[in-house]
Amino acid sequence: MHHLDLLACPLTGSALRRTGDALVGATGHRYSVTPSGIPLFAEQHCSEDAKRQQAHYDRVAAAYIASLAYPHTLEYMDYLDTAFLDAVGDAPLDTVAEICCGTGEAFRLLGSRVGRGVGVDISVAMLEAAVSARENPRLEFTQGDATRLPLRSGAFDAVFMFGGIHHVNDRQKLFGEIARILKPGGRFYWREPVSDFWLWRALRAVIYRLSPALDHATERPLLYEETVPVLQAAGLRPLQWRTYGFFGFCLFMNSDVLIFNRAFRFIPGIRRLTRWAAALDDRITRTPTMGNAGLQVIGCAEKPRGEPA
Ligand SMILES: C[S@@+](CC[C@H](N)C(=O)[O-])C[C@H]1O[C@@H](n2cnc3c(N)ncnc32)[C@H](O)[C@@H]1O
Repeated sequence: MHHLDLLACPLTGSALRRTGDALVGATGHRYSVTPSGIPLFAEQHCSEDAKRQQAHYDRVAAAYIASLAYPHTLEYMDYLDTAFLDAVGDAPLDTVAEICCGTGEAFRLLGSRVGRGVGVDISVAMLEAAVSARENPRLEFTQGDATRLPLRSGAFDAVFMFGGIHHVNDRQKLFGEIARILKPGGRFYWREPVSDFWLWRALRAVIYRLSPALDHATERPLLYEETVPVLQAAGLRPLQWRTYGFFGFCLFMNSDVLIFNRAFRFIPGIRRLTRWAAALDDRITRTPTMGNAGLQVIGCAEKPRGEPA
């Protein structure tokens, strides 16, 4: 079964109905569904950026997923996850979308708090992994382009993005789509690479070009001055922007890019070492002058409720 009331034809916005092994929009657009239940909304119409990302993530999916399971990656991720959950607080999560969901990391973190959820990604290889790892039966996964979401307008309490915004060059369209699908008062949360600090900007410029694990044409970390006006123009009110991660993040994360980092898993006590590094990074990024110097930003923006007449 699909959450058909949460899906919409990405071309016309119309409702969908199920016929055989496909979903069909009111104007006849037809979308096939894989045997594992993933509707394919981007097979026929998809931006050039998304096509490029699809080819890239279909190719690197297995290595990317493996890199998330190293003990030091998991330990550092715990620190970032705690910070993220603090940002979410007790916000309502009845109906949730995760965009550029990959294996559904935000859903996994939020667990049973999510009432119903739809994860959207362009890579079918990543989505198949999400379906296999799904623990909450009220979650569904669908293929779609983040700049043309196959989701119903005004239907979601919250939208999450982990490491997806920086892959989408057309942020105006992306944030416009997020504003469209949120309910008034709904919130958009993200955790993304940020390059406001000169050192990370310079390092990434080199690494993104050299690493075969990355596609430099579609890797563009956030910048505060560039992001906030686009959120506002889309009708989203920024509520939080705080950065995390410093030398510890550099060293212990990114095992998909820094090959030597994969050997860290054999070092005895690596988890404890990573915890110390995360605590040190936390102190650095909490220093007043270093507040914007982290490598990752955790942020939140709200779709304002309409003014009462
Ligand atoms: C760095 S991965 C993050 C995956 C997941 N959120 C996580 O934290 O593991 C980026 C994901 O964005 C997806 N993606 C990139 N561009 C996209 C687009 N235009 N529309 C939908 N998904 C996209 C990729 O397929 C990939 O799964």
